[in-house]
Amino acid sequence: KTGVFTYDPGFSSTCSTKSAITYIDGDQGILLYRGYPVAQLAEHCSFLEVAYLILNGELPKGQELQNFDSSIRKHTMINENLNRFFEGFNYDAHPMAMLTGVVGSLSAFYHDTTNNKDPRHREIFAHRMIAKIPTIAAAAYKKYYGQPFMYPQNHLDYCSNLLHMMFAVPAEPYHVNPIAAKALDILFTLHADHEQNASTSTVRMAGSTGTNPYAAIAAGIAALWGPSHGGANEAVLTMLDEIGDVKNVQGFMDKVKDKNSGVRLMGFGHRVYKNFDPRATIIREQCHKVLQALKVDDPKLELAMKLEEIALSDDYFKARKLYPNVDFYSGIIYKALGIPVNMFTPMFAVARTVGWVAHWIEMVSDPAMRIARPRQVYTGAAERTVSPIAQR
Ligand code: SDX
Repeated sequence: KTGVFTYDPGFSSTCSTKSAITYIDGDQGILLYRGYPVAQLAEHCSFLEVAYLILNGELPKGQELQNFDSSIRKHTMINENLNRFFEGFNYDAHPMAMLTGVVGSLSAFYHDTTNNKDPRHREIFAHRMIAKIPTIAAAAYKKYYGQPFMYPQNHLDYCSNLLHMMFAVPAEPYHVNPIAAKALDILFTLHADHEQNASTSTVRMAGSTGTNPYAAIAAGIAALWGPSHGGANEAVLTMLDEIGDVKNVQGFMDKVKDKNSGVRLMGFGHRVYKNFDPRATIIREQCHKVLQALKVDDPKLELAMKLEEIALSDDYFKARKLYPNVDFYSGIIYKALGIPVNMFTPMFAVARTVGWVAHWIEMVSDPAMRIARPRQVYTGAAERTVSPIAQR
C-alpha cells in the first residue's frame, strides 16, 4: 500500500519494527511506557525517573535515580566551540533550524560513540544527549531573542535548569517558579516516547546504517519540526490566533470541512489514536490547573475548549474519528509558562530525545539489526528502449 511505511531492520517485510519500549492501543486510547500507564507515570514520577525507565526498562530505585540524575547534571554543558556555532545564524533563524544544525554538529565532537557495539559508549551517548539538548534548546532561544547564553546551573533539577537557562539574565537573579518546573516535567513525561512515530522512525532509519548517533538524532529533530508532527503545537496557537474569537469558530470549522480549503484543525487527529489520545486528556486537565495556579487568564483556553466541543459534536469529525491529540492543549501551557510559540516544538524535541535515544540503543544493541531498506509500489513506465536524440 502506498504511504504505508514498512520498516525492516532484519524482520519479515510484512511486519514493522519490533520494540519493547512503548505500547499504544489506538482504539482503546492506551499508552504504556515499558508497561506502565502514562497517566500513572505523569502523576507519580519525575521526568528523569521516566527517562531512566524508558532507557533501562525498569523504574529506578533510589540510588539508581541519584546516579542517573548526577550523570545527567555532569553532562549539561556544551563545548564552547558549539556556542560559537550560533553566531553563524541570522537573528531570525527558527529555533528548530538551529537545533537541527547544532545537534548534528555534536557528531563532530564525539567520535567514540560511532562504535555503537560498546554498551559503555551507548550509555555515555544517552546521558550526553539527554543532558545537552536542554542547553542547546535554551541557547537557540537566547540567540533568537538576542540575549546572552546562560550556563547550566547543576544544582537545579532538569526542568528548572532549562527554564533558568532560557529566562535568567546576567543582570539580575532569576528564581524558577516550581509550578512552572513541575508543569514542564509532566509535559516532558507525556512527550517522552510514542513508539514508531515519524521522527523516531527517522532516527531508527538513519541509525540502522551505523551513522554517528548524534547525526541520527538531528535527523529526528528535522522530522519532528513538520506541522503534521511535532510542529503542530506551534500551528495550534497560530490557528487559535487566526480564529481570534469564539464567534469565528463555526466559520473556521466550515473551512476545515471544505476539502478544497486544505485547512486542517491542528492538534486534532492521529494516525494511530482513533478514540482519544490519553495524553490530550491529561494535558487538558493540566491546562486548567497550571493556568489557575499561575493566575493566568488566557482566552485561548476558552477558545480551544469551544473548538473541541464543536468538533466532538460534529459528524464530519466523528465520522473520521478525529479527537484532540497531544498538541492541542500543550501550547496553551507552554504559553502560560512564558515560552514563546517558536519554542514549543523545541520543547517537544527536548522530551522526545529520551525516546529517540532509547530506540536507537534498542536497535543497535540487537545483533539481528540490519540496515533499514523499505521497498515501494512502482507506479512508473514499463521497460522501454532508448531512441537516440536525433530520433526523439
Ligand atoms: C503528533 O505518530 C505519532 O505518534 C505522532 C505523535 C507523537 O507523539 O509522536 O503523536 C505527535 O505528531 C500528533 C499529530 C500532530 N499533528 C496535528 O495535529 C496536525 C493535524 N492533524 C493531521 O494533519 C492528521 O490528523 C495527522 C497528520 C495527525 C494524521 O494524518 P492522517 O493519518 O493522514 O489522518 P487520517 O488518515 O486519520 O485522516 C482521515 C480523514 C481524512 O479525511 P478523508 O480523506 O477521509 O475525507 O480525516 C481527515 C483527513 O483529511 N483529517 C483531518 C484532520 N486530520 C485528519 N481533517 C481536518 N483536520 C484534521 N486535523
